[in-house]
Amino acid sequence: MANARIPKRYEGCSFETYYPMNPSQEAAVSFARQTADAYPSSDVGLLLLGTCGVGKTHLAVAILKALAEKNVACLFYDFRDLLKEIQDSWNPSKQTSELQVLNPVQEADVLVLDELGATKPTEWVKDTMTHIINKRYNDRKVTIFTSNFLDAKASQYDETLTERVGERLRSRLHEMCKVVLINGDDFRKQVRQEQIRRVRM
Ligand SMILES: Nc1ncnc2c1ncn2[C@@H]1O[C@H](COP(=O)(O)OP(=O)(O)OP(=O)(O)O)[C@@H](O)[C@H]1O
Ligand SMILES: [Mg+2]
Repeated sequence: MANARIPKRYEGCSFETYYPMNPSQEAAVSFARQTADAYPSSDVGLLLLGTCGVGKTHLAVAILKALAEKNVACLFYDFRDLLKEIQDSWNPSKQTSELQVLNPVQEADVLVLDELGATKPTEWVKDTMTHIINKRYNDRKVTIFTSNFLDAKASQYDETLTERVGERLRSRLHEMCKVVLINGDDFRKQVRQEQIRRVRM
């Protein structure tokens, strides 16, 4: 677990501490449990899609924690941090090389890539994301993704997941993952604010 890089804020996240607020969230927690239970006989990962604060990162971490208990080598990465670490590794004054950054990402049995599509999709970003994910796709390794970008546009201002990650990557994701769309209100706003208000009163 110590090597899994789970962010401190999410250390307490498990299936037991996720309280579904609607049928889509009930389905999401059930798919998340199935993903952990079915490992390693199934190599299908999850693509958790939804708006802010519906629990995508929470459920992704819950899967890693359940698998780490089965001694599966797990790793969590915010995709934005990973891309930044790769760029930083080019700086000659840095001690790490691009390979040193990428090796654990390619080797992890189960990887969470949080915030897919959140980085402005330049050609380099699209190519690098595709390269990283393609390697895991070829090796049939399980990857859990989260993203705020959906396949369908709710309004003309929205960008789709395909626009953010490119068609080649979106196509691979279809084969690697079960897509789970989570609806609901922002838990941070609804519940956490209420808890903070109560503590401070
Ligand atoms: N249904 C829920 N039950 C319990 N805690 C929840 C639930 N949904 C969200 N949370 C908690 O609310 C906070 C926000 O959830 P989380 O970070 O997983 O959302 P997210 O969908 O990843 O949002 P974002 O798109 O902003 O990254 C976390 O502290 C998480 O543990
Ligand atoms: Mg998140």
